[in-house]
Amino acid sequence: MKFYIKIFIVILTVGLIGIQFIKVDRKNPMVKGDLKAPQEVKKILKESCYDCHSNETKWPWYSYIAPISFLIEKDVKKGRSELNFSEWETYDTNKKLHLKKELWEEVENDEMPKAVYTLSRPNARLDFVKKNIIKKWATGY
Ligand code: HEC
Repeated sequence: MKFYIKIFIVILTVGLIGIQFIKVDRKNPMVKGDLKAPQEVKKILKESCYDCHSNETKWPWYSYIAPISFLIEKDVKKGRSELNFSEWETYDTNKKLHLKKELWEEVENDEMPKAVYTLSRPNARLDFVKKNIIKKWATGY
């Protein structure tokens, strides 16, 4: 093997080991007002959205391995800040209405749940039936 390739591999290995020591925040804060919704709606949201949009995130084994862990941490942090079903009942009526509208837009256009996420979770994918249940709850028709 060429010398520079060996150097490259050594640096890469040291780097990959090094980043494992960077702290990742995998805390699940307390649930302060979990969404109240019909059970069929709740079930779908739990299966497809709660890992990024609630304080009940299930952290998979690969969320402990950098650099994947950084990406997951970022998604959960951003996801919770946009919409957190664990705080839903603390939102005022306007915010709930606004979020329901946005949420249906995302689902209708297949933007949520994120494609990288459903890649490893076929159960989180939303078919026609599930989408319709969400639509009815979110838009009222
Ligand atoms: C893998 C993590 C993940 C999953 C699963 C997920 N989301 Fe998101 N969601 C995000 C992130 C991150 C954002 C912040 C905007 C972005 O990066 O696209 C977001 C943003 C949103 C927004 C705000 C839209 C905006 O652009 O402001 C809504 C509404 C939303 N998600 C709804 C849902 C719904 C409904 C589900 C389940 C059907 C879901 N999400 C599943 C990560 C996720």
